[in-house]
Amino acid sequence: MNRKEHWEIVYTKNKDTEVGWYQADPEISFSLIEKASPSQGSFIDIGGGTSRLPEKLLDHGYEKIAVLDISAAAVAKAKARLAERAEAIQWLVADITEVEDLGAFDIWHDRAVFHFLLNPEDRKHYAELAARTVPSGGHLIIGTFAHDAPTRCSGLDVCRYDAASLANEFGNDFGIVEEQSHLHITPTGKPQQFIFVTFERV
Ligand SMILES: C[S@@+](CC[C@H](N)C(=O)[O-])C[C@H]1O[C@@H](n2cnc3c(N)ncnc32)[C@H](O)[C@@H]1O
Repeated sequence: MNRKEHWEIVYTKNKDTEVGWYQADPEISFSLIEKASPSQGSFIDIGGGTSRLPEKLLDHGYEKIAVLDISAAAVAKAKARLAERAEAIQWLVADITEVEDLGAFDIWHDRAVFHFLLNPEDRKHYAELAARTVPSGGHLIIGTFAHDAPTRCSGLDVCRYDAASLANEFGNDFGIVEEQSHLHITPTGKPQQFIFVTFERV
């Protein structure tokens, strides 16, 4: 099964409140976004799935919001939940490892997507795209499984990171602003240790 098929099945077969990464309130992501940029900034959530982050941003006055996901089913579910508020958001169905141009966004956020990129070429493509997309002074906020997290997520192997190894993936284009550990508890009660790192585009 390829990557896209995997995610289409995940979002077709499961309620979005039952998937392991479900959060009723994406508090940590929001607090890091708020610190990085005021609401005038433009924002893209990479692999946003059915996250509650877009509506939290809308609630707090963010207006230029985009969500990209490989799964059309995830995007359809998120749009249905948001109803007419979905129209305020730009929705993109694409594999981030195949996208060449996203335009410019002041904040690039990714919770639990980069860690699925096992192939160094995919990670290189991702990092180069992020560097082309985020202008100087903009921010990249990445949350991945930490070294003491499980080795798999959604039944797929993941790469686990700390701030230094994550910074290594983005080379000299981004400098670390801050890092935060975060313990996520899945809906079935399993602990997953995350590391969130905010970078600034040099
Ligand atoms: C573990 S979920 C996290 C979802 C969301 N970020 C959240 O915090 O609720 C991973 C998400 O990344 C998406 N995804 C996985 N690989 C991707 C890729 N190569 N390009 C774009 N999206 C991808 C999946 O469809 C899924 O929605």
